[in-house]
Amino acid sequence: MNNRYAVILAAGQGTRMKSSLYKVLHPVVGKPMVEHVTDQVSQAGFAEIVTIIGHGAESVKEQLKDRVSYVLQEEQLGTGHAVMQAQNKLAAKEGTTIVLCGDTPLISSETMEALVNHHEEQGAKATVLTAHADDPAGYGRVVREPSSGQVNRIVEHKDATEAERGIREINTGTYCFDNARLFEALEHVGNENVQGEYYLPDVIEIMQSAGEVVAAYQTPDFSETIGVNDRLALAEAEKAMRLRINRYWMKQGVTLIDPEHTYISSDAEIGPDSTLYPGVVVNGEVTIGSNCTIGAHTQITDSTIGNGTEIQQSVVSNSTIGNEVQIGPYAHIRPDSKLEDQTKVGNFVEVKKSTFGAGSKASHLSYIGDAEIGKDVNLGCGSITVNYDGSQKHRTTVEDGAFIGCNANLIAPVTVGAKAYVAAGSTITEDVPGESLSIARSRQTNKENYLK
Ligand code: UD1
Ligand code: CA
Repeated sequence: MNNRYAVILAAGQGTRMKSSLYKVLHPVVGKPMVEHVTDQVSQAGFAEIVTIIGHGAESVKEQLKDRVSYVLQEEQLGTGHAVMQAQNKLAAKEGTTIVLCGDTPLISSETMEALVNHHEEQGAKATVLTAHADDPAGYGRVVREPSSGQVNRIVEHKDATEAERGIREINTGTYCFDNARLFEALEHVGNENVQGEYYLPDVIEIMQSAGEVVAAYQTPDFSETIGVNDRLALAEAEKAMRLRINRYWMKQGVTLIDPEHTYISSDAEIGPDSTLYPGVVVNGEVTIGSNCTIGAHTQITDSTIGNGTEIQQSVVSNSTIGNEVQIGPYAHIRPDSKLEDQTKVGNFVEVKKSTFGAGSKASHLSYIGDAEIGKDVNLGCGSITVNYDGSQKHRTTVEDGAFIGCNANLIAPVTVGAKAYVAAGSTITEDVPGESLSIARSRQTNKENYLK
């Protein structure tokens, strides 16, 4: 959008979080709050996004990289003072500026657009996004003129009288301003209040007393405006976002057996007719195809899952899983693994940095690490790739159609050729030619009448 700018306030310490992590970096559904805000602002398409940083400045920069520009607020003297820091960047520009707090992670791009549109329709110099809160404690209250309903000013909870504290309409901390007028008004903001801070909401009263049009846009959904100041609000925000994401996926045709207890990141994609059981955790960038069954307490992080795949009580990280794959129960698919179509990784099997060609199986009790397993390979119960010699990792190759007997050790680096057999209990230290049988264990001797 031309001539539309955004300022995100993210310099505060977040004392009430009682945390060594800066407040705006606390995650909600696995993503830092300030990144949620940035994602939504970016989606709404503002020409420039300026983020005010202070406490944890380097960490915030590391998180948001060059998606936004930064201004440092060296001392945190209040939200008005924070916006003032963007003066050099923005004050000379003609246009509309939206100001958001880095601690309101649920605010959506649709609401930002509705706010800006309302502001422009009203021809206002300032428009505040408000909401009705059942429990408004802690928020700034919107004080309106009783006769006209016109917004007069915003009073902080700590500065409010008993009567003002009874007001349920709150300031969400998101506003839209005529850009030039915003920076003029900020010059007049003082700090005579309980907290001794320069309050951004004071510009509302300043503009209103100067006879300018000040508007309010009330969003119907309070949960979207939750401001996270402590761990209680963090949990509330987490829940609200979880339910928002879950409702979305149910509407897209995904079955969630218990949506209250299903945890899906905001960067996941799930195909229709997939079913997620209670306790499923989907972290980061995950794509799950259609017709999948993701069993109870499965955890999937930054991975791609094909169609018709079933995963029971397992952990999958940074891996690619094909179609109609069966995983678990109790399997661990570690980073950089690739399981092609119709493979099976069963009970108590750990796979690390390995590829399974289509149709290959490790059904029980195995460790397969740094291995390339061809197509239609059967890794018997207890097969182990011995990939580590105490200082270095080595690779194992098992070619198409090979059969590895139970409890075999494949000491890497080693290759088992196509359609070869490895006898149960073997410890293989040398390559096995294709289509052969390798037995690497001592012969059985029976001592008869030993008991006597
Ligand atoms: C603020 C509003 C309040 C509103 C609420 C909505 C003020 C004075 N009050 O209160 O009316 O109801 O948000 O959630 O604005 N920050 C800076 N620099 C500073 C101070 C704050 O960057 O000097 C940042 C913080 O990192 C935070 C945001 O501004 O992301 C809001 O500050 P916070 O202290 O949380 O304000 P609230 O008390 O919640
Ligand atoms: Ca806040």
